[in-house]
Amino acid sequence: SAEIPKAIKKLAKYLQDNPDVKVIFMVGAGISTSSGIPDFRSPETGLYHNLSKLNLPYAEAVFDIEYFEQNPKPFYTLAKELYPGNFKPSPFHYLMKLFESKNRLKRIYTQNIDTLEREANISDEFIIEAHGSFASNHCIDCGKEFPKEAFQNKLLLNEQETDEDGGNYATCDGCGGLIKPKIVFFGEGLPTEFFDTWDLDSSTKEKTVCIVCGTSLTVYPFASLPMEAPNSWLRVLLNREIVGDFKTSRQDTDLIFKGSADYAAFLLAQELCWLEDLENLSGK
Ligand code: OAD
Ligand code: ZN
Repeated sequence: SAEIPKAIKKLAKYLQDNPDVKVIFMVGAGISTSSGIPDFRSPETGLYHNLSKLNLPYAEAVFDIEYFEQNPKPFYTLAKELYPGNFKPSPFHYLMKLFESKNRLKRIYTQNIDTLEREANISDEFIIEAHGSFASNHCIDCGKEFPKEAFQNKLLLNEQETDEDGGNYATCDGCGGLIKPKIVFFGEGLPTEFFDTWDLDSSTKEKTVCIVCGTSLTVYPFASLPMEAPNSWLRVLLNREIVGDFKTSRQDTDLIFKGSADYAAFLLAQELCWLEDLENLSGK
């Protein structure tokens, strides 16, 4: 129909004309906002805009390892808000699941720590959590693992409450160091799995589609993935704003849809004749 935006139409046609081509998704907080999780940098609604109540020297300090060592409180406040379990995947997550079901998924590189990709039943082998997740916790001094449930209990303590061991924050029973979920903070390296898998995925000369969605492409090294895409790949941006390499080094073949991730998901599903599948999965 005439209302389908050109970029979505072209993407669908490319996928239909090249049935062996698979898709690599590169995603960020914008795919989870419709699930009720705020993103970081959107004006007004982004987490960094709303951190003023935490009295941080600067917003990103909430994810800064040196700041955390001195004052874990802002991170605890934020973690309480973001803790997985309270949110359901968005239609965009289910679109990615459909790419898996239809055997068209190569990989999902996600910056999100909300684990909604797993929640949407996408298989582990496809998911690279570039910035880690709440799935495990470790001592920041000696590295000893700390049980997930025990960390969650600490997190759920109210402001002035302490539990039987007397502290507000989870600490290591070996050395007393602070416990932190395996989320990548500023000043920490990304998981080796991120680099190893990207080396593998980006070394293919086969045609590939990479779909970038819901990210401001401001945090490196993740933000460099679209730039490192081989020339044989088709690059697609689905986002509320034009970002990163799509702004600074736009290629003639790039496909850009400016709008919401879920809307893009439904339009693409419609073009691919997957609309009924998507509606069934997402319950919308
Ligand atoms: P940002 O908040 O920086 O960017 C979100 C992007 O998604 C923006 O470009 C928005 O315009 C867009 N957006 C928001 N809602 C959308 C929607 N419904 N549909 C389409 N686009 C939408 O989030 P990230 O790029 O993910 O680090 O941030 C990267 C990293 O910075 C995060 O992983 C986080 C943070 O510090 C950690 O959690 C360790
Ligand atoms: Zn320790």
